[in-house]
Amino acid sequence: MLANQVVVITGGAGLIGQEFVKAVVEQNGIAIIADINSTLGNQVKNDLSKELNTSNIDFVELDITSKESLENCIKYLNTKYNRIDALVNNAYPRNKNYARHFFDVEYEDFVENLGLNLGGYFTTSQQFSKYFKQKGYGNIINISSIYGVIAPKFEVYDNTPMTMPVEYAAIKSGLIHLTKYMAKYFKGMNIKVNTLSPGGILDNQAEPFLEAYKKECSNKGMLDKNDLKGTLVYLLSDMSRYVNGQNIIVDDGFSV
Ligand SMILES: NC(=O)c1ccc[n+]([C@@H]2O[C@H](COP(=O)([O-])OP(=O)(O)OC[C@H]3O[C@@H](n4cnc5c(N)ncnc54)[C@H](O)[C@@H]3O)[C@@H](O)[C@H]2O)c1
Repeated sequence: MLANQVVVITGGAGLIGQEFVKAVVEQNGIAIIADINSTLGNQVKNDLSKELNTSNIDFVELDITSKESLENCIKYLNTKYNRIDALVNNAYPRNKNYARHFFDVEYEDFVENLGLNLGGYFTTSQQFSKYFKQKGYGNIINISSIYGVIAPKFEVYDNTPMTMPVEYAAIKSGLIHLTKYMAKYFKGMNIKVNTLSPGGILDNQAEPFLEAYKKECSNKGMLDKNDLKGTLVYLLSDMSRYVNGQNIIVDDGFSV
């Protein structure tokens, strides 16, 4: 479904990013891991290339908060492939004080985390869409979250040190609206922009949390990272050609 498409996945070396890389390659596309962590990025590239027996995975070092880094990335990919078909905004930058409880969050940390994440997604989208406009086509998929849609169900974190960070609520809800803004702004440019909002993804979380979370879901509870692949491929493919400015939630009914 994605034959020869060049798909850039920011944060492609991370938990969900790796799965997106696999999804693209399985559909005969070329997956670009664009990540700030070059050691991990190169390792993931080598491991997945072996696992999937493919030469269709590339790595490029990218900091989504740096215009210069973005320009270099786009230049490098255009020279090498002469095309970029899609951008998946999936990186997860945060500072060392991220994810504190509400009353402990300092103004400076709130602002910095919004800048790194939502600001990073904005500047990345801006630089790639400049390129897409020149080429006459493009596709942006923003990875948000159910917590960009609904208020947190704080009860699921009872008896755990976890919380749902206030920065995350602002970042992810802002991203859903930024998606709609861009979908409208790009009118006539043949660039579509959509959001994919996952529910919680399994990653060795504590059992009481998993049980409480599951009670809010329809069947499975927390999802496996590969449960997101189908929706990503749909949004990348021609099957969603006229789906624009939308938010697709994949959460086993948690947010309903
Ligand atoms: N894990 C979940 O349960 C979950 C649920 C819903 C939504 N999400 C969203 O999915 C996306 C991916 O999350 P994840 O859990 O895979 O995160 P992760 O921490 O496993 O991976 C994030 C990747 O982003 C990279 N990164 C960090 N800062 C960067 C920067 N400035 N430039 C480029 N790359 C950078 C990291 O090196 C890392 O490889 C995020 O947008 C997250 O909010 C995750």
